[in-house]
Amino acid sequence: MSDAKIYGVVLAGGIGSRMGNQDKPKQYLLVGDKPILIHTLEKFYIESDFEKVIVLCPKEWIGHTKNLVKKYLKDDGERVVVIPGGETRNETIMNAIDFIDSEGNLDDQTIIVTHDSVRPFVTKRIIDENIKYAREVGACDTAMPATDTIVISEDNEVISEIPERKKMYQGQTPQTFQAMKLKSLYESLSDEEKSILTDAAKIFVMKGERVHIVEGEVFNIKITYPYDLRVAEALIGGSIN
Ligand code: CTP
Repeated sequence: MSDAKIYGVVLAGGIGSRMGNQDKPKQYLLVGDKPILIHTLEKFYIESDFEKVIVLCPKEWIGHTKNLVKKYLKDDGERVVVIPGGETRNETIMNAIDFIDSEGNLDDQTIIVTHDSVRPFVTKRIIDENIKYAREVGACDTAMPATDTIVISEDNEVISEIPERKKMYQGQTPQTFQAMKLKSLYESLSDEEKSILTDAAKIFVMKGERVHIVEGEVFNIKITYPYDLRVAEALIGGSIN
């Protein structure tokens, strides 16, 4: 079991449309003195269990991303590889699995720790627990017990249901999987099923597979809107992490 290859998979293939008019995708914006992507990669780079860290970004940003990795991590492709993302987040993950396959390292033990490039406050504890539970269970997801009551609305106008709060969690990342299993479950979905998925853990859940929960952190935020950038600046300034 211990010779299973583990890859870090940092998802940077999005364009950050909700961040508004920016000259670059949000993962390249500065927080403190470094791009968000670099803060995130630093957390993955120090994890010695990783065979490699795969960064997936928009095609036209590959050169820029490689330069950043070289400049900040002093890595010229030895441990961090930069390849193109896909049309959707899940297609981006599939590109990472295809890369692992092309290296001859895809077997039923191979594990991928997938993480949003725009969650720079992930901790080593969270990454280590992801690896542990993916080894034991085959899939795990990072989540926080909901603090607010969650309200469901089928029509986005009136409440249809208010589920019991103690059963509610808010999903974060990493999400960690046996790579071959994720690929075969994903390939078994119809195009319509694929199109409504925003989340890789849901692929396992839809197919009745177990996904273990790893507890996240309140500060493991995803930088999505301009407001989140201000929160991120405050977190960096307060060195909460
Ligand atoms: N992502 C990806 N490939 C895609 C789409 C998203 O790797 N085709 C990544 C993003 O770069 C981000 C993470 O998935 O790190 C979480 O997605 P989200 O916050 O929705 O990012 P964007 O798609 O960039 O943002 P938006 O929805 O505002 O356009």
